[in-house]
Order: sequence, then C-alpha cells, then structure tokens
Amino acid sequence: MTSKYAKYIPTAIIIILAAALAAVLLFMYNQPAPQRGIAPNVDVAALEPDSSIWAQNYPNQGTTFAQTTSNNVRTTYGGSENFDKLAVDPNLTILFAGMPFSKGYTEDRGHGNALTDILETARVNEKTPGTCYSCKSANNPGLWTEMGMTAYDATPFADLGQHIDQTIGCANCHDAETMALVVTNPALEEALEAQGKDWRTFTRQEMRTVVCANCHVEYYFQGDGKYLTFPWEQGTQIQNIVAYYNEVGFKDWEYPETGIAMLKAQHPEYELFTAGSTHYAAGVSCADCHMPYTRDGAAKFSDHNVRSPLLQPEKACGACHTEVTYVVERVRTIQDQTNKAMLSAEAALVDSLTAIKAAAADPNANATLLDEARAMHRDAQMYWDFIAAENSMGFHNPEEALRILGEATDMARQAQLKAIQALTPPAQSGSN
Ligand code: HEC
Ligand code: HEC
Ligand code: HEC
Ligand code: HEC
Repeated sequence: MTSKYAKYIPTAIIIILAAALAAVLLFMYNQPAPQRGIAPNVDVAALEPDSSIWAQNYPNQGTTFAQTTSNNVRTTYGGSENFDKLAVDPNLTILFAGMPFSKGYTEDRGHGNALTDILETARVNEKTPGTCYSCKSANNPGLWTEMGMTAYDATPFADLGQHIDQTIGCANCHDAETMALVVTNPALEEALEAQGKDWRTFTRQEMRTVVCANCHVEYYFQGDGKYLTFPWEQGTQIQNIVAYYNEVGFKDWEYPETGIAMLKAQHPEYELFTAGSTHYAAGVSCADCHMPYTRDGAAKFSDHNVRSPLLQPEKACGACHTEVTYVVERVRTIQDQTNKAMLSAEAALVDSLTAIKAAAADPNANATLLDEARAMHRDAQMYWDFIAAENSMGFHNPEEALRILGEATDMARQAQLKAIQALTPPAQSGSN
C-alpha cells in the first residue's frame, strides 16, 4: 500500500539536494584562494638586476638558485670548490708563462659566486677592461641596453664596477614579463646573426642550451675598444675557431723567449657539446643534466642550483637512463681517458717550448723553420687548451675531445721537430 505522502518524495529529494549544493557552494566560496606556485605577487621591472625581487614570485627557483653560492663540493675532475689548478698541474705554470693565468687559475664555482670571484682573482689589474664583467653579473642586460655594448666594453673595469652590484641572476637568462629564456648577451646575438641564425625562432629545447651560450663559450676582446666577440664566423668547431684567429691575426699574449703569438681558450662548453656529441645529436640540452626537474609537493620545477650533475645523478641522468650507476662509471672512464690524453699533449707542448726557446736564442737558426715551429705551437696549444679549459674533462663530447687532444699532441711534436731542425745545419750535399 502506498502512503498518501508518496507523491511528495521526488520534490523533497530535489529540495534536499538543492540545499546540499547551496551549502557546498557557500563553503567553497568562503575558502581562501588556492596557493599557486606561479601566481605573480610583485611586479618585476624589465631587466631587473636584483634576483631577490624575482624570487618573491618564484620561491622554488629563487631558493635553489641561492644555493649556488654555497655548493662548493669537489668532484674527481670538477665540482665547485675553488682549488688552485696550478698546484694540481704544474705544467700549467710553464704553458701559461708570461700571462696572468700562470699567477692565478682557480677552478670555477657556482653562479652565486661569479662576482666575488672576478673581484678576487689575481688576474684582474689596472689594465683589465670592463668587458671582463660580461659573464659575471645580472646588471649587464640593463647596462647593455642603457649604454650599448661598445661603450660598456670601452669602460675600464674599475669604473664599470661602480654600476655593478649583482652576481649572475634571473635577468641573465629570463625575460621578466614572460619568463621565457632569452639571449641577453649582444655578442651571442651578433655571433648567431653572422651565421644567419635568429634565436627568436629556436625551439624551447634549443633555448635550454643556447641560454648557457650567453657565457659558456670561447670569446675574445676585439681591438682597442675590447669589443666582446665570439670567433664563430667560420663555424664553432676548434679548427674553425683557430682558422678565424689566424686570419684576423689575434694573439692573447706573446710567450717569453720564443716569440710565439699565443692563444688562450676561455670555457668552450657550448662549442664542444654542440660539435656532434651523442647527447646533442639526441636532442638533450644543457638544462636536462644541469637543471633537472625537481618536485616540491605537487609543483615540478627546474633545479636552479646549477652544478656538477655527478652530485645528483639520480635526478640528472636518471630521467633518461635507468642504469644510473653504469652511466656514472662511464663518466669516470671517459674523464680518465681524456685526462691521460691531455697530459700527453702537455708533455709534447712543454718539449716543443723548450726546443723553440733554444732555436730562438740562436742567431744562426733557420728562420723559416723556426717560424713554422712557432705557428704550429700556437695552434697545438690552442687545441689542447680547448679541452683543458673546457669544464667537463671530455664528458660533453668524448670522441671530439680525444680527436682534438690527439691533433694537439701531433702538432706539438711537429713543432718540436721543426725547432730542432732549425738548429741543425743542413747536410752538405754531394760531400762525403
Ligand atoms: C648529458 C649530460 C650533460 C649535458 C647535456 C651537459 N653537461 Fe655539462 N657536465 C656534465 C657532466 C657529467 C660534467 C662533469 C662534472 C664533474 O666532473 O663533476 C659536466 C660538467 C660541466 C661543467 C663544469 C662543472 C663542474 O662542476 O666542474 C660546466 C660549466 C658545464 N658542464 C656546462 C654545460 C653546458 C653549458 C652545457 C650545454 C652546452 C652542458 N654542460 C651540457 C653533464 C652534462
Ligand atoms: C651570465 C653568464 C652565465 C650564464 C648565462 C650561465 N653561466 Fe654557468 N657560469 C658562469 C660563470 C662566470 C661561472 C663561474 C663562476 C665562478 O667561478 O665564480 C659559471 C659556473 C657554472 C657551473 C659551475 C662550474 C664549476 O666548475 O663549478 C656550471 C655547472 C654552470 N655554470 C653551468 C651553466 C649552465 C648549464 C648554464 C645554462 C643553463 C649556465 N651555466 C649559464 C656564467 C654563466
Ligand atoms: C643560467 C640561466 C638561468 C638563471 C640565472 C635563472 N634561470 Fe630560471 N630557468 C632557466 C632554464 C634553463 C629553465 C627551464 C626553462 C624551460 O624549460 O623552458 C628555467 C625555468 C624557470 C622557470 C619556469 C619553471 C621551471 O622551474 O622550469 C621559472 C619560474 C624560473 N626559471 C625562475 C627563475 C628565477 C626566479 C631566477 C632567479 C632567481 C632564475 N629563474 C634564474 C635558466 C635560468
Ligand atoms: C634528456 C635525456 C638524457 C639525460 C638527462 C642524460 N642522457 Fe645520456 N643519453 C641520452 C641519449 C638519448 C643517449 C643516446 C642513446 C643511445 O644512442 O643509445 C645517451 C647516451 C649516453 C651515454 C653513451 C654515449 C656514448 O656514446 O657512449 C652515456 C655514457 C651517457 N648517456 C651518460 C649520461 C650521464 C652520465 C648523464 C647524467 C649526467 C646523462 N647521460 C643524462 C639521453 C640522456
């Protein structure tokens, strides 16, 4: 038997559901706004040099970035403890005789120390051009826009320093409004342009490598204005770079008692990595290994504590390699092999310098052979330095590193031989 109230049941259900819905909506409406990692809460001015202002909007990136001031851990061949390279490898004092690197050559450290380290290095003196600040400070993008790079580079180091109070920071890599990665260094912009490339058309993955090329490259100071220039006009491989320097006749210093016009490599990580390495060919970027994704609860962000990937291989390599222990062992083998080849090249270079010194001291030496020996030594030492100054001890491109060191050794031995021949009187033809 149905109740006389049965016909009211559907209506009652609707009323109850509506009330419940209203209560839920009211509850949701009264909740505080959800916390979002990326909700901007302060306005960051275009080219803002002070990273702490940006960091208010992006605490995870800001906190990990700040760790680069204190990530001073040493690895077998790298890491960020600023040990003295000259004490570890006495050959360097010989190979860099007559130039500032023979007085102060410390291992690089993290981005947070760049400004302190340039101010403390024994290589800076009253003749140092302002150009030396180019890869050390987040003030640069603003200064380049304000004064132009020509004026920036022509300003003496001490004078320019009055406008510089920030180490490397967000403004070196990001656009403040969009947070997109950007090329900030006019020298990189010009070097790409000279090759017919426009970084604004690059993919996001390409930018994750090119942004590092703002600084981790070979460069030189062109002319009296010390204009920052990347020697990429003929290409970015070592043979293109040496050919370019030989064509423009640039020298970093003259080696004492030999008359050799020498070249000093900077830190060509970008050039070595992009010279057809396995990882580059597979589309892997610098940021994949040096800024791996990290979790903070539900938020995923790029670790801005840029450092040796060997300090966190599970994150740095584990995203792509399941056998993390195996690939880390491979790094060790590659670095040991590179180091061995590097030391052989150094021995050949030291011998070549000794032979050229002897020939240069002898007024009767064959001038043509001596000049050939000098030219060959110049190239050989630059080839060696391209790998020695590069910071991965060959890992960024193992095959290329061994090729370059092999050629360096070969050229140094030929230079030595020519210098010895320059001192040997030619055999008397037809006599006995
Ligand atoms: C496949 C992973 C990988 C990629 C990609 C990669 N690196 Fe590295 N990088 C390494 C490893 C491994 C080392 C060696 C670290 C060590 O010896 O402690 C290293 C070393 C370095 C160092 C020296 C670090 C130190 O602690 O001494 C710098 C600087 C560097 N890389 C910059 C770059 C730049 C710039 C790029 C892109 C042009 C790049 N790397 C691409 C893995 C990578
Ligand atoms: C504005 C210039 C600049 C940019 C851009 C830059 N770096 Fe650096 N980087 C430096 C300088 C300068 C140092 C050395 C600082 C020191 O020794 O005080 C350094 C140090 C490092 C180190 C530590 C080196 C060591 O031996 O401990 C690593 C690793 C590194 N950079 C990787 C990268 C990667 C990867 C990128 C791109 C995502 C990048 N850097 C972008 C200028 C830059
Ligand atoms: C040496 C270059 C460099 C510096 C300096 C730098 N970043 Fe980044 N940042 C990157 C790279 C590379 C990525 C990855 C971008 C991508 O994948 O498109 C990134 C990504 C980001 C992102 C996007 C989300 C994420 O984590 O992937 C934010 C936000 C960010 N950075 C904030 C900052 C802030 C804030 C600072 C200064 C405290 C800063 N960055 C300094 C290179 C840099
Ligand atoms: C974004 C993905 C990615 C990351 C991150 C990555 N790799 Fe790789 N790695 C690759 C790919 C792709 C190859 C090529 C695979 C192949 O051809 O078998 C490769 C190849 C290698 C090889 C073999 C190369 C050779 O020619 O012998 C070694 C060694 C290696 N990786 C080490 C590392 C180390 C160490 C790390 C961390 C510092 C790392 N990789 C990070 C993707 C990655």
